[in-house]
Amino acid sequence: MATTLAKAADGADTTEYAARIEHVSKSFAGPAGPQLVLDDINLDVAPGEFVTLLGASGCGKSTLLNLVAGLDKPSAGSIATNGRPALMFQEHALFPWLTAGKNIELALKLRGVPKAARRERAEELLELVRLKGAYGKRVHELSGGMRQRVAMARALAQDSQILLMDEPFAALDAITRDVLHDELTRIWRETGLSVLFVTHNVREAVRLAQRVVLLSSRPGRIAREWRVDIPQPRRIEDAPVAELSIEITEELRGEIRRHGQH
Ligand SMILES: Nc1ncnc2c1ncn2[C@@H]1O[C@H](COP(=O)(O)OP(=O)(O)OP(=O)(O)O)[C@@H](O)[C@H]1O
Ligand SMILES: [Mg+2]
Repeated sequence: MATTLAKAADGADTTEYAARIEHVSKSFAGPAGPQLVLDDINLDVAPGEFVTLLGASGCGKSTLLNLVAGLDKPSAGSIATNGRPALMFQEHALFPWLTAGKNIELALKLRGVPKAARRERAEELLELVRLKGAYGKRVHELSGGMRQRVAMARALAQDSQILLMDEPFAALDAITRDVLHDELTRIWRETGLSVLFVTHNVREAVRLAQRVVLLSSRPGRIAREWRVDIPQPRRIEDAPVAELSIEITEELRGEIRRHGQH
């Protein structure tokens, strides 16, 4: 389970990381006994750092993210996060009977923001994700991209140090995804949040991250990582993004070949 680290009495952070994953392994019960899905994962996410986790389908990316979120427990090893993480998934998971604004206010309520302050904060968050004026809109009135913006605003409402994202843009068309990459980069730079972002899209990983971590398959181990020093804002079609993506894709293909996956 993700543990919340103690803060100093004056409220200052006492940690030099947003998330620390140490010697984490995870097995699930399978028909032929326990199946090792993650094997001895060690990974730190620094405060304010943007890390993407990349790997073939089924290599354990979502499993690792769920462990960091505290939704499941590692079989071995430990995970610590600086405060409770905020989550965002491929499915927006907004409440359809609430408006965009009320979905965000619910997150504010759950973290104890007084009623009188919620509306203004919800409006601010909607403005941050460029959805000014959508406060009273119901979920079915919003496009897929707009729903993911509201989901992002709701995640930000939790005021966490770290945002965990599991393929949040995978269901969107390429143009909408491109716009949301720009928005996420802008919000990350404005807020100083740490982000741990899971994807199997290499270009997306390179477009967004300061560091790309590649997981091998069966079991998931950290195969390699790359620092991405290309200046932000980047575009997915920029030559340096394409070049590094080709190098990483080669490595990913090698991992898939080694494990006989498609
Ligand atoms: N609750 C569970 N019980 C049993 N097996 C599980 C459970 N959750 C995940 N697995 C298995 O663990 C492995 C990793 O799954 P996981 O969902 O983490 O992969 P992933 O890397 O996120 O894949 P994708 O890119 O397709 O989303 C898979 O073989 C999956 O079947
Ligand atoms: Mg997954």
